Amino acid sequence: MAEENSPVTSQHSKKHAPALTHFQGHWCLSQLVPNVISFQKHFQALDDDIVLASKPKTGTTWLKSLAFSIMNRNRFTLSDSPLNSSNPHDLVPYFEMTLYKDGQIPDFADVSSPRLFSTHLPYQALAESIKQSNSRIVYIARNPLDVIVSLWHFITSKPERADWTLEECFEQFCRGEEAYGPFWDHVLRYWKESSEKPNKVLFLKYEDMKENAKPHIRKMAEFMGFPFSVEEETAGVIEEIAKFCSLSNLKDLEVNKTGTLAASPRQTKPFFRKGEVGDYVNYLSNSAVERFCKIFDEKLSGSGLTFRMSLSG
Ligand code: A3P
Repeated sequence: MAEENSPVTSQHSKKHAPALTHFQGHWCLSQLVPNVISFQKHFQALDDDIVLASKPKTGTTWLKSLAFSIMNRNRFTLSDSPLNSSNPHDLVPYFEMTLYKDGQIPDFADVSSPRLFSTHLPYQALAESIKQSNSRIVYIARNPLDVIVSLWHFITSKPERADWTLEECFEQFCRGEEAYGPFWDHVLRYWKESSEKPNKVLFLKYEDMKENAKPHIRKMAEFMGFPFSVEEETAGVIEEIAKFCSLSNLKDLEVNKTGTLAASPRQTKPFFRKGEVGDYVNYLSNSAVERFCKIFDEKLSGSGLTFRMSLSG
């Protein structure tokens, strides 16, 4: 068994899969370990910080665009929103992938409060000051079968990863050895924190938001300290934000069709694919689904956390 702070590189990493290191109770992308250590050491949370947390491919891009639009609605109209010309990931940076990369220690002196950050890290790997301060965390979760399929498309959109098979991606999730995983530990810990401290962690589900985004946008705004006024509600501001942040609108913007991220050479297009609930049925066999659900249901049993695997489910 590995010591909490002594990284162990995955014995299972395949040539075309991202290399993983077991670190502080999760599988961390190996290249990010120094960034995570630096983030934990240096980041000082402020009481009004908002942190968006998620496993990759659970709707992070959507959550970022919604949170940014909610927070900045009095600064920019939607037609003037920076989201029209910048990808959501460039407006809401990741601690571990962007802010603390390459040994950088960011200077936040010029960042106005409340600040908006994001992370894929599991709860236990967050900087202590986030946990101790009054900063708030908005977490988005999604059914893991759609996450597997979405991740596989995303990773293989890079030419150098094109021959990573869906089977290997699936097997990683079954073993709990995928990036930031195990999936069940990630969701369960944020679920537990949100149950025990509902004013600290807001737990959202992608499927619920797809079904009807409005109540969740309203809840997010309240939780973040930016509630909609009666006048805004009456004027349809929530609906406008929902429409502006919809997959169809964001996907069609030039910056998200042909651009690359400012902070990395990553193309923006693969962040926007189908956005459907239950797309896994087009990729995973019944026996694979049954096998994963058996493992997953056991891990979640007794937690009260469930996922809809399709819109009719
Ligand atoms: P699919 O691959 O199933 O289409 P993340 O943002 O965490 O990387 O997750 C990406 C997934 O969210 C992709 O799912 C993507 O299509 C979907 N997505 C991106 N933007 C979205 C939006 N505005 N609304 C709903 N889903 C969105």
